[in-house]
Amino acid sequence: MDKYAVFGNPIKHSKSPAIHKQFATSLGEQIDYQAILAPIDGFKTAVADFFSAGGLGANVTMPFKEQAFELVDERTELATIVGAVNTIKLLDDGRLLGDNTDGVGFVNDLLANNVAIAGKRILLIGAGGAARGVILPLLAQNPSEIVIVNRTASKAKALAELFTEYGKITGYGFDDLPVSDYALIVNSTSSSMLGELPALAEKHLNGCNCVYDMFYSLQNTLFMQWAKDYKADITVMDGSGMLVGQAAQAFYVWRNKMPEILPVVSALKSGELK
Ligand code: ATR
Repeated sequence: MDKYAVFGNPIKHSKSPAIHKQFATSLGEQIDYQAILAPIDGFKTAVADFFSAGGLGANVTMPFKEQAFELVDERTELATIVGAVNTIKLLDDGRLLGDNTDGVGFVNDLLANNVAIAGKRILLIGAGGAARGVILPLLAQNPSEIVIVNRTASKAKALAELFTEYGKITGYGFDDLPVSDYALIVNSTSSSMLGELPALAEKHLNGCNCVYDMFYSLQNTLFMQWAKDYKADITVMDGSGMLVGQAAQAFYVWRNKMPEILPVVSALKSGELK
């Protein structure tokens, strides 16, 4: 059977094996997908062992995405810009290709849920790796503008600067963030993981239809609840769809077949995916 795996540390709670099993079933394909715990100092060896034992593709999660970027023989343009690899594919000539499917997965989740991006102004909170990964796939959907806001303003400005040749994008701190109609507000910070809220003033929600927290959660995150409390009819989304979306894009990279996202998101949210 065609062999795939996800590498991480920790990896026990990874949903990737269940998600990929569901994709394969829905497309009538047969794959073997395992979660592999790589030692913190042994990622490279674990990956080499896997591919020499016949592995065809791998996902990479925390804390190895930068090491995966270094390890592969070739990188997609997106992976190069992001500086991190979450998907490795064995090429026909035996070399390893590194891709980053997080941003495409995020955008595919928005599109699957009919969240409009084209012509809209998007506010992206946070300027770390997660923010960096979604900027190009978002710009590819032709928003009118992306505004990055970050606790450390200089990081927001520096990140925006990297992408100015690709579209209209600017960076601010929370204090000088312009009030505007942000149709979509995305929280890419680790605040939800820490049980904290980014310091965004409520007034920025006024023109907003949808807030998206990249954190995967079965309940509303603090950020989602904050938005709902201010504006009851706002659409709130957590990172489940992004998790499934990045996996779907990886499946596509490996097997050239695109699984449907929404049924797997529902299964994930209802706890059916173990
Ligand atoms: P990731 O790869 O997950 O994006 P990261 O690169 O460490 O992780 O970036 C974390 C991001 O979350 C940063 O934008 C960070 O803000 P700073 O650059 O000012 O550190 C942001 N962040 C973390 N905790 C936060 C909090 N409680 N409120 C607001 N922003 C927070």
